[in-house]
Amino acid sequence: MALEKRELGSSGIKVTVVGLGTWQFSDAWGVKDYATAKKIITKALEAGINFIDTAIVYGQGLSEEFVGRAIKELGAREHFVIATKIPGEFLAYGDVFKATRRSLRRLGVDSIDLMQVHWPPAWHNIPTCEYMRALEKLVNLGLIKAIGVSNFAPELLDSARACLAREDVVSNQVRYNLVERDAEKEIIPYAEAEGLSIIAWSPLAKGVLTGKYTPDNLPAFTDVRQNDPLFHPENFNAIYNTLVKKLLEVSRKYGKTPAQVALKWLIQASDTVIVIPGAKNEKQVEDNAVAGENWYLSIEDWLTLEEASRNLRISRVTW
Ligand SMILES: NC(=O)c1ccc[n+]([C@@H]2O[C@H](COP(=O)([O-])OP(=O)(O)OC[C@H]3O[C@@H](n4cnc5c(N)ncnc54)[C@H](OP(=O)(O)O)[C@@H]3O)[C@@H](O)[C@H]2O)c1
Repeated sequence: MALEKRELGSSGIKVTVVGLGTWQFSDAWGVKDYATAKKIITKALEAGINFIDTAIVYGQGLSEEFVGRAIKELGAREHFVIATKIPGEFLAYGDVFKATRRSLRRLGVDSIDLMQVHWPPAWHNIPTCEYMRALEKLVNLGLIKAIGVSNFAPELLDSARACLAREDVVSNQVRYNLVERDAEKEIIPYAEAEGLSIIAWSPLAKGVLTGKYTPDNLPAFTDVRQNDPLFHPENFNAIYNTLVKKLLEVSRKYGKTPAQVALKWLIQASDTVIVIPGAKNEKQVEDNAVAGENWYLSIEDWLTLEEASRNLRISRVTW
């Protein structure tokens, strides 16, 4: 079944509402063999997903290499919209060019569809217009097609957009899932008012919303989740009892998995939203893609989950 598509800002680039996140191809998540990565990307292609998100920092180039190699071997360059990101460390004018050339080489492409600023240069004192103008130059040179940001507050995003002469920022990639909804306060309303896309990262709350982890079955994670507040017992128990149980109930009603319902909830929350769940195997990609198909939660069920998550407060002060 075809997946719903949404335009990235007003770029003319249309992506499936469910993309594929590839931070998984790194030490952080542990998928470090190319064969598994290729299977995951092949399954994304077969399931109709056309949007892949990677970043320079994921496995220090490993994720970009795997994505580029698989897309080339599959002959699928025309099918996929490729998004990558420059870290906040590499935003000095010359570094933006140097980093992009290396990304192009690792991805094995002539042009990157969406280049995002991964996070603001918080402690490097680089003026906003310095890196935004460098990105606009990359568009003029044809090396990237569109400019996005990630983890930007509206005030900074406004300043960043004001630096651009002809281009506009098309998207802001931010943390957004049924547990962590802070983006709804200012970031999503700004995107809705300005016609930008929201690319939701960790849309499954790093696996919490798949329903497969319970207070009695919390593996001793050896990955990026080791110290994540989501899995701290005080937070996890509250999330499980108030939200995950409801999610299990609603998903049974629709004959869907909790992951599919959790993703669909975000897609229905705002028409600016595109979700990019990460996957560690083919089955997970296949499962997640279904969230982009043509079925919807009723308003009552959407509201049930809204209410279950609205008063959930997780604390990040875990030590
Ligand atoms: N811009 C940023 O600053 C930023 C930050 C973080 C992430 N991202 C991007 O967002 C993407 C997604 O975020 P994320 O990887 O942090 O978290 P996520 O998508 O919320 O969770 C991914 C994890 O959930 C589990 N999972 C996924 N689909 C599943 C399914 N259908 N059934 C059961 N388990 C499933 C897998 O881990 P297990 O099987 O081990 O449980 C998987 O590694 C990343 O890959 C990356 O591209 C961007």
